[in-house]
Amino acid sequence: MAKITKATSLGDWFEQRLNVKAFTKVMMSEYWIPKNINFLWAMGVVLAVTFFILIVSGIFLLMYYKPDSLMAFDSVNYTIMQEVKYGWLFRNMHAVAASVIFLIIYIHMFAGIYYGSYKKGREMIWISGMLLFVGFSAEGFSGYMLPWGQMSYWAATVITNLFSGVPIIGPDLVIWIRGNFNVDDATLTRFFMLHVFLLPVIIMVLIALHFYSLRAPHVNNQDSEEIDFDVEAQKYLSGKKKESKVIPFWPVFLSKDFAVVSIFLIFYFYLVFFHYDFAMDPVNFDPANNMVTPHHIYPEWYFLWSYEVLRGFFFNIAGFKAFNLGLIAFAIAQVIFFFFPFLDRDPDVMPASKRPFFRIWFWILIADLIVLTVFGKLPPTGNNAWVGFYTDIVFLALFVSLPFITKFDAKRRGAK
Ligand code: HEM
Repeated sequence: MAKITKATSLGDWFEQRLNVKAFTKVMMSEYWIPKNINFLWAMGVVLAVTFFILIVSGIFLLMYYKPDSLMAFDSVNYTIMQEVKYGWLFRNMHAVAASVIFLIIYIHMFAGIYYGSYKKGREMIWISGMLLFVGFSAEGFSGYMLPWGQMSYWAATVITNLFSGVPIIGPDLVIWIRGNFNVDDATLTRFFMLHVFLLPVIIMVLIALHFYSLRAPHVNNQDSEEIDFDVEAQKYLSGKKKESKVIPFWPVFLSKDFAVVSIFLIFYFYLVFFHYDFAMDPVNFDPANNMVTPHHIYPEWYFLWSYEVLRGFFFNIAGFKAFNLGLIAFAIAQVIFFFFPFLDRDPDVMPASKRPFFRIWFWILIADLIVLTVFGKLPPTGNNAWVGFYTDIVFLALFVSLPFITKFDAKRRGAK
């Protein structure tokens, strides 16, 4: 054990016991970030801040929410929204943050794809990020059930029913997940537990893993330049701050991030106070009723693209078992992004702007996802069904072609 002497100050007392200086050096003031990055690299910290808002607002909601199928709807719509002082504010903050976090996750993900930040040593950053995406999806879905309105109930019914497509054990699996034959009180209480305890804990562990996986490879930069971080850090420390290609995480990088976070918070609170309705479906202001199915069931906007992938194959094509095809496409859509680092066969890290075929591929993917999202909310009839079908095919074809397109780009450039 290190020699402990009489502390000269409170700081020194902690320093001797916790080695605070060495810790902050490693984590903050000597953790190096490239200079040539743009505002898209602030999205990670924006996500961390939004997650923090979700936790704090969620704790306040938890004080009045009742996880009981007879009381849940009133506890949200009456107690929290009308009786509790500022209850409406915490609900709006929570609902808007839950929606906006997905927007930022998608921007963060697609920035990673655009700049090739998922390969050559950064695979674990990508995989831990995708695990976070799955974690947040489960968190979003379980939270959507809690107000126990019509959309909560029927979305839960439709989504849990998807598991009936699993071969052999499907029907039993659905009952096991629901805790009953129908979505009911047991379903609500277990999704409540997942939403307020198990999933947040898993998400926190995954965030720690995500941050840790950034340490060895360091973050990428907008030119995908390979930086020797040790050499550049020495330059910075020896006073050649202008020549050095890196800056310390704290205070330089974070101060830039906080500027972006501040702009984000203006936009976020504008939504909270003036447009919170976009994060709440009007149908969900009717209490859950298992005898009345809403005309049209759809999930929150951030799941619409994968919902449309599922529905695109739903109508019967020349006698195919369309339900199963849709389920298979849906299952592929859920996992395909995990494999991105391995489907991209170009060995070099480069922004899409320098990879001609990949750049086209990337923008077609974005357009396809937008069309899937828009049509995911429309009834799947007539022309809508055909648009869904073709955009589904494009989505699957894009991922089948990815290895060939990326290999072709690399070959044209003469990369090995
Ligand atoms: C709440 C969830 C998340 C948090 C708090 C978070 C946080 C961060 C932070 C702070 C960084 C470093 C700075 C930056 O590039 O922004 C980062 C980088 C990264 N994240 Fe996330 N992230 C989350 C979700 C995701 C998801 C869903 C993905 C997609 C798979 C992802 C993929 C990446 C990648 C590839 C990088 C490296 C970027 C680079 O090297 O340029 N992250 N993340």
